[in-house]
Amino acid sequence: MSARAILAATAALGALIVLGGCDNLYKQPQDKGFQPSKETAARGAWPLRPPEGTVARDEAPPSPPQLTAALLARGHERFDIFCAPCHSPVGDGQGIIVQRGFPAPPSFHIDRLRQAPTRHFYDVITNGYGVMYSYADRVPPSDRWAIAAYIRALQESQHTDVASLPDDAKRKLP
Ligand code: HEC
Repeated sequence: MSARAILAATAALGALIVLGGCDNLYKQPQDKGFQPSKETAARGAWPLRPPEGTVARDEAPPSPPQLTAALLARGHERFDIFCAPCHSPVGDGQGIIVQRGFPAPPSFHIDRLRQAPTRHFYDVITNGYGVMYSYADRVPPSDRWAIAAYIRALQESQHTDVASLPDDAKRKLP
């Protein structure tokens, strides 16, 4: 066989392999974009809907719920789970993770954050802030309001004017 014949044979073999490959690819099942899969369509679950309570980042969040003891209790519980590790149980920014080297958040008791609207806390939980990540996937909107309300209570607790306390509370002061 001449060198030219060998080359031609190799090229033909190569073409066969390539064509064979194409043939297989062509026959593979494929989904077109933005179409329900057979399973989804069969369940009648199309178009897909976001889970209950999901709010797009550019959508206005639901308005704050009424302030109740139950809301504060829920906020307290969620705050201790999701926020206190960094912000500390009293919100001074010296949580356990910070003590181990994570950047310290500002204290919630500084003037700027005392004057910030309650919505600001809701938005920080939703979108994150600086090096703090978003908690949108772990804290649903109703819990964001609950936590925001609890932070307000924490701020109040550190800035209560003694004169505004009821008499029996004043008597308990050291
Ligand atoms: C892993 C640590 C961490 C956790 C957990 C965390 N934060 Fe933060 N947070 C930070 C840090 C760090 C900053 C400062 C970010 C910066 O300025 O770059 C911050 C900043 C903030 C601020 C201040 C924003 C401003 O205007 O300066 C608020 C409010 C806040 N966090 C709320 C929360 C709430 C509410 C939670 C719980 C849902 C939470 N954070 C959970 C680390 C954390």
